[in-house]
Amino acid sequence: MHAGADAGAASWYIQKVIQSAVVPVAGLGTRLLPATKSQPKEMLPVARKPIVQYVVEELVSNGIEQILFVTGRSKGSIENHFDHDPELFQALTQANKQDLLRELEFEALKANFFYTRQRLQRGLGDAILCAENFAGEKPFLVALGDSILGLNAVSRAVSRMADVFDAKRASCVIAVEEVPSEETSHYGIVQPASGADDVFRIVNLVEKPAPKDAPSNLAIAGRYIFSPVIFDMIRRVQPDKRNEIQLTDAIQFMCDEGRRVLAVKLTPEEKRYDIGNFPSYFESFVEFALADPLYGADFRIALERLLAKTPAKV
Ligand code: G1P
Repeated sequence: MHAGADAGAASWYIQKVIQSAVVPVAGLGTRLLPATKSQPKEMLPVARKPIVQYVVEELVSNGIEQILFVTGRSKGSIENHFDHDPELFQALTQANKQDLLRELEFEALKANFFYTRQRLQRGLGDAILCAENFAGEKPFLVALGDSILGLNAVSRAVSRMADVFDAKRASCVIAVEEVPSEETSHYGIVQPASGADDVFRIVNLVEKPAPKDAPSNLAIAGRYIFSPVIFDMIRRVQPDKRNEIQLTDAIQFMCDEGRRVLAVKLTPEEKRYDIGNFPSYFESFVEFALADPLYGADFRIALERLLAKTPAKV
């Protein structure tokens, strides 16, 4: 993005240079069993929509037009969700259910969907490697399919990341957010080169460190922009003790080579809703349900009634 450009130009840029996103959805979702025994965690609803629909809406609103899902077995419902369903459409049309037909308007989202399978569970780095042919020679976005940015996925974070990627000629830009120190072992944690402003350079990354080993409390927040050089870096990564190829290790190689790896901090409004574990999934569901324009007000009353009946144990 160049000096003097306006917000409209930001989306022009992203359409021109970052047209493509990779959404890894192959994980087994074991932290959400039994809910995820036979359905993808990305299809669990948060209030009225499945998580992955929020993710796609966020990407499309930031100018992404090509979306590759890296899927696995039992993830077929994701593909079905974004496909047109003529029988359902016909049934609702015949019954004149205009309100329900409106709920299906997302099917017309301006995006092309692609699907490929990660055959073995070999970690996030390996899943991204499945996107090599799709990405070609161009930089691309990675958006984790179990993370929503901002209430109802309203967020410009990805456009800001694209601006930084271009202006600073970066090899990689990562969205980060502050997490409580005791939670560092759930996330990839970055070490800033010096001060951690809104945009800063990263010198080291550690995947899921114990709080005492964490280089900061700034966690990788599920959105990355990469130049295609990431694929060579992933190929160099040795599997960890769970036989997984960590994306974080590949990004570390970029830092070690002196490539520019930058972080963009999420604003409080862009807070990340992490659906990968039950406590955070429950909280996300309740927050989105309370904000629902149709049902939110009544839900608030019901919730207050419930809370009054069952005071928290301290
Ligand atoms: C992955 C990444 C981690 C990142 C996290 C965000 O971990 O490896 O660096 O902080 O996503 O959700 P996972 O949640 O897949 O274990």
